Amino acid sequence: MTPRRSRGRRLVLVAVAAVALVLAACSEVKNNGQNSLEPKGPKAQQIYDLFVPILIIAIVVGIAITVATVFVALKFRYKKGVNENPKQVHGNTRLEIGWTVLPALLLAIIAVPTVATIFDLAENPGPSALQVTVEGKQWWWEFRYPDAKVVTADELIIPTGRDVYLKLTACNGSGATKTCNVIHSFWVPELAGKQDAIPGQPNHLRFTPEATGTFIGRCAEYCGLQHAHMEIRVIVQTATDFGRWQARQEASRTEPASDVAAAGAAIFQRQACAGCHTVRGTSATGTVGPDLTDFGGRETIGAGLLENNSRNLADWIRDAPELKPGTAMPSFHDLTDRDVQAIVAYLESLQ
Ligand code: CUA
Repeated sequence: MTPRRSRGRRLVLVAVAAVALVLAACSEVKNNGQNSLEPKGPKAQQIYDLFVPILIIAIVVGIAITVATVFVALKFRYKKGVNENPKQVHGNTRLEIGWTVLPALLLAIIAVPTVATIFDLAENPGPSALQVTVEGKQWWWEFRYPDAKVVTADELIIPTGRDVYLKLTACNGSGATKTCNVIHSFWVPELAGKQDAIPGQPNHLRFTPEATGTFIGRCAEYCGLQHAHMEIRVIVQTATDFGRWQARQEASRTEPASDVAAAGAAIFQRQACAGCHTVRGTSATGTVGPDLTDFGGRETIGAGLLENNSRNLADWIRDAPELKPGTAMPSFHDLTDRDVQAIVAYLESLQ
């Protein structure tokens, strides 16, 4: 085999390997619930309906240009023995007008539905909508329901069939340690578009969930060490369930039911916990970490990092920085196992 032929064969092998690698990404994987190609609400559907025709136009243009480029490269390639310069031309008015007007026309055609959709998605649905203020933190999400004076973290609970209007912003910490200098991005692909959460520059996002269920999203703007662990869970309930949840949140807290939970509540107040976390109806009013008033009902700990169960919660209380480096939550190695179990019982009783 000549060296030239063996090089050609190697190139083919590399190309085949590359294609195989790319196609491997298309294999049937477990659906992670974050597929913008499977919209589950009217706003996500609107975005999808805009995406598909534009994708088709882009594919047609891409194929046309690739074919034309390859054709020209082959037709006018250097041929052995033919040592002729190609015909020299200077300017071609018709061609130049053509390749200016055609793309401009195409962009104008795409712009009409795009701009219309952008305006529609940003439109304020009015006072009947459920208003929620979303604040991106390092690294978790805070959800404030201003009408109900309810605050939650990482899990946005909403009812079906009602417009939701989010006001997105971003700030970290509170009081003297408050910093507002990191941008996050709120993205729940199956329900709505992607919208940045920018300090001092509120953005809005509107969507209407149609079916009950849990919809997963994440932070889509790099925001530091734990950017990957900033999950959003949108939990869509029936209007009745949502009303019940909201009423429970608004009700003032009673004392913990069991003795262990009561002991946990006392430790929670005594330790640094109450200085950083709020549990409405108690003297815990800290605003550095997430509001824990409904913590027992949450599905995860640390913004999607761990499943919310007793073992994980105990590990988290003992050493959160080990599990989520960079978190503002300190470790509590000095707590006895009994203390930790008591705090776990207390937090799990908060629903
Ligand atoms: Cu928040 Cu990335």
